[in-house]
Amino acid sequence: TWTTATFVEESIQEIRVKVAKKRVLLALSGGVDSSTLAFLLHKAIGDQLTCVFIDQGFMRKYEPERLVKLFQEQFHIPVEHVSVRDRFLRALTGITDPEEKRRIIGHEFIHAFEEASKEFGPFDYLAQGTLYPDVIESANTSIDPQTGERVAVKIKSHHNVGGLPRDLIFKLVEPLQKLFKDEVRQVGRSVGLPEEIVNRHPFPGPGLAIRIIGEVTAERLNILRDADLIVRQEIKHHGLYHDYWQAFAVLLPIRSVGVMGDQRTYAYPIVLRVVTSEDGMTADWARVPHHVLEVMSNRIVNEVKGVNRVLLDITSKPPGTIEWE
Ligand code: XMP
Repeated sequence: TWTTATFVEESIQEIRVKVAKKRVLLALSGGVDSSTLAFLLHKAIGDQLTCVFIDQGFMRKYEPERLVKLFQEQFHIPVEHVSVRDRFLRALTGITDPEEKRRIIGHEFIHAFEEASKEFGPFDYLAQGTLYPDVIESANTSIDPQTGERVAVKIKSHHNVGGLPRDLIFKLVEPLQKLFKDEVRQVGRSVGLPEEIVNRHPFPGPGLAIRIIGEVTAERLNILRDADLIVRQEIKHHGLYHDYWQAFAVLLPIRSVGVMGDQRTYAYPIVLRVVTSEDGMTADWARVPHHVLEVMSNRIVNEVKGVNRVLLDITSKPPGTIEWE
């Protein structure tokens, strides 16, 4: 029978055999997969592992600091915190199309990742938090014709294969590839990841950038970050966090008139998006209790400068998607 203890032991042995004395690079995101992966690899190969956290500036409030601190102080796993915030924001200047945004963010990420792999490398292996469902889809990898091993094709294709220096084609180490999400959670929990990471709501790779409709600016990011924090605080405070698949804020790039004290305001609206779902493929808008909505609305308008109106998204998926972009 499958137990987390035997899984942890066996995968540590397998990692040691496979990696031997070579060096491994891991891009840490703070999600349960990459966090569990970091823990396993660090146990298996210690300082042959380098964890890089690429901070593109679209994370939620306090998360980058918290992530690095958690790993370093609680797990004693060193993390290279690479801040590339300005570069991402600059690349998105004037960009409003959602697909274009995603493309640019993806491109910048690969670029930052390559730079990090050169700066801290060279590395032979790239650790990926591939899960069983991803293996079945198997879209991001291919077989290296020279060695017959699975390699990361995403990084290759960006460079029109062939032109890429050999040290940027990684062999993959994917210890989670036989697991389903709930098994990763069990493993994560058993190795001591806090509940906060183990049961975290999904968070998209492009982060808050796709929750700001239209152009992403530093001002809008700050506003959204503060509103998002209030949404999460209130959902947790009312014991609802585990009832929902996701609960977050979206900023709309329009302004409407309001009044505060005896002052007229002209500011952004924030949309509350709260959904229930089994797998993210379909979703229902959550019937959040009115008193919780009330607190969120009051707090957001009172505490977040630049917001004077709060809306509720009551669209299911389909026809709406969970994210707005
Ligand atoms: P949609 O918006 O398509 O989202 O209904 C379905 C689920 O996927 C998440 N999502 C992403 N996750 N990178 C990710 O890692 C992305 O680019 C991305 N886009 C959407 C979304 O948060 C939801 O849980």
